Amino acid sequence: MGNTFLENTFAQDILKGLSSYPKYLPSKYFYDAKGDALFQKIMQLPEYYLTKAEFEIFERQKENIVNAFSSRTGKFHLIELGAGDGYKTKVLLEHLLGKQSNFEYVPVDISGNVLNLLQNDLKTSMPNLEVSPIVGDYFYALEKISEQDHDRKVVLFLGSNIGNFNQKNANGFIKHLSQELNEGDLLLTGVDLKKNPKVILSAYNDASGVTKAFNFNLLDRINKELGANFILDNYMHHPTYDPQSGECRSYLLSLKKQEVHFADLETTIEFEAYESIHTEISKKYALRELQDMAKGAGFTVIENFIDSKGYFVDTLWEKL
Ligand SMILES: C[S@@+](CC[C@H](N)C(=O)[O-])C[C@H]1O[C@@H](n2cnc3c(N)ncnc32)[C@H](O)[C@@H]1O
Repeated sequence: MGNTFLENTFAQDILKGLSSYPKYLPSKYFYDAKGDALFQKIMQLPEYYLTKAEFEIFERQKENIVNAFSSRTGKFHLIELGAGDGYKTKVLLEHLLGKQSNFEYVPVDISGNVLNLLQNDLKTSMPNLEVSPIVGDYFYALEKISEQDHDRKVVLFLGSNIGNFNQKNANGFIKHLSQELNEGDLLLTGVDLKKNPKVILSAYNDASGVTKAFNFNLLDRINKELGANFILDNYMHHPTYDPQSGECRSYLLSLKKQEVHFADLETTIEFEAYESIHTEISKKYALRELQDMAKGAGFTVIENFIDSKGYFVDTLWEKL
């Protein structure tokens, strides 16, 4: 990543997670260059309905969405948290440009690699678009954004990124975000809705094994960046879904009792047989839960844009 602070934070976070009981690893570390490429593959999988559903919402309802962004006068900052490769966002960006909206696009991502790909892509596909990327995590970006205190802001938080928080942290994050916004600013959040558990589980356990490879890549990244010696064949990918909490959780299970040595950190971590590492949460919501979250954080729901299967919502909120 070329940033000493981030590298140190990576080492600290990984050690903290693997020294905890139960063990965990922060999902934001999935996204090195290989993780970015694997996630792009996931988005094209037949089982991964989330991308298709949100893409359909944008294709079919872009006029209403974009009109809501541009309904007030003056230039606005279109800030996208965790933008990734912007595959779906480009539908909205093109439509905004076509309407000659006065805005600047600010994609934020912890992966400098994916932001470079996005910026290069936009330079060719939308040369007139003003782009000001921010490399860093959401909280760093929120601080930077709060420096532009008086400008109108429209924040995008797409692709069910909010699902990577549990309920408590999602509420906390949305409240924090709300504090950085002014009255009348907008937030469009892409949220995966509760549905048949079989549909959900297969999206996180695809037949071709790409999601498994995405999870295993985190161990590979730790091997490369922290001199660890995880043997990938000694672990299995294990997703679960709880229909009540709406939490789809991914785990890596240690198939046997074993030790992993971190040469660069002079540390050894022990695993019991079938001990788990929690790697990711992808929480699914009911519309009423979103309504409560909006209200609790000082927003009002303007409109819910839902796909034709009722799988996914892009919920548009205004800061009160
Ligand atoms: C699941 S992908 C979704 C990308 C995009 N929003 C979409 O809908 O296609 C999540 C993206 O958010 C980024 N990300 C994850 N956690 C982050 C964090 N804490 N701060 C900033 N970016 C983060 C990842 O690098 C990745 O590009």
